[in-house]
Amino acid sequence: MSEHSTFLKDVNDGLSQQPKYISSHYFYDSIGDKLFQQIMDMPEYYLTNSELEIFREQADAIIRSFEMNPAEEFELIELGAGDGKKTQHLLQKLLEKDYSFQYIPVDISANSLKVISNRFKNLFPDLKIKPKQGEYFHVLDDLFTSPKPKIILFIGSNLGNMEDKVAKKFLLKIAQHLKTNEKLLLGLDLMKSRDIILPAYNDATGITRDFNLNLLTRINTELGGNFNLENFEHAPEYTEDEGIAKSFLKSKTKQNVYISALNKSFEFEKDELIHTEISRKYNDEILGNLLRNTQLEISQKFLDSQKYFADYIITKK
Ligand code: AVI
Repeated sequence: MSEHSTFLKDVNDGLSQQPKYISSHYFYDSIGDKLFQQIMDMPEYYLTNSELEIFREQADAIIRSFEMNPAEEFELIELGAGDGKKTQHLLQKLLEKDYSFQYIPVDISANSLKVISNRFKNLFPDLKIKPKQGEYFHVLDDLFTSPKPKIILFIGSNLGNMEDKVAKKFLLKIAQHLKTNEKLLLGLDLMKSRDIILPAYNDATGITRDFNLNLLTRINTELGGNFNLENFEHAPEYTEDEGIAKSFLKSKTKQNVYISALNKSFEFEKDELIHTEISRKYNDEILGNLLRNTQLEISQKFLDSQKYFADYIITKK
């Protein structure tokens, strides 16, 4: 199915169910990518700086935890490479220490890959870089055809946007590909007080609101929808017991929205929600549950100074 028809089907299915739902996967068009860059620079979005601090301050120890032989070429595969600002610190140290490795950034966006490749080629002329475009769930199979040892990076708490069931399936898939003693570096946002987490998803300047509402803009431009953005508001929530930040779009009035590509109208009650995103927060126990029966084990954990974020080293047994 083409990308357009998958979007059309998912919007139709999601808006026909109760409660209404559209996947956060669709946030990331070129406008969404730019808004996410702005989110990462916001003071409220502590995730980026916390993980950046770990990479900046503890790159030596992280590299030791890989237990790689510097002379044997390995592949450093980054799933969802983004802008590479954190990984940069790791690459720099690996190059300084004369490790022999190939860096393989994987991203769904060809444009992001081009930007990151150019940036790293300029910064590190000696870096061997082999970008791979695609959905990381799908490209894993292609990536594991070479016999070289592998380290996988999956940072930025991207796992948190998956339901636990999906996250477990994803981790199982990684486990099936890794050989004994190979590692996954998994960056996860930790459970903490609502006062810290909620503002990260409800910033004062409204960038996250625009990021969420961009879904409706996409439906308007790509599927001929007539959503009036003024009639919806960004409605995030976080409960400490559950440890999951959730984003919704809330209909301010009772209204109908027509989508011409479906030749169909959808009815919204006043205050009705469209669920658009989950961002799970973790602790050792929750991660331990996800790893149960996968042959993956936590072998080390690196924290930032505020203990907001963790980069786990996970080893295949
Ligand atoms: C990409 N992902 C880890 C972000 C998060 O924190 O869940 C996406 C995001 N959504 C709203 N703000 C940031």
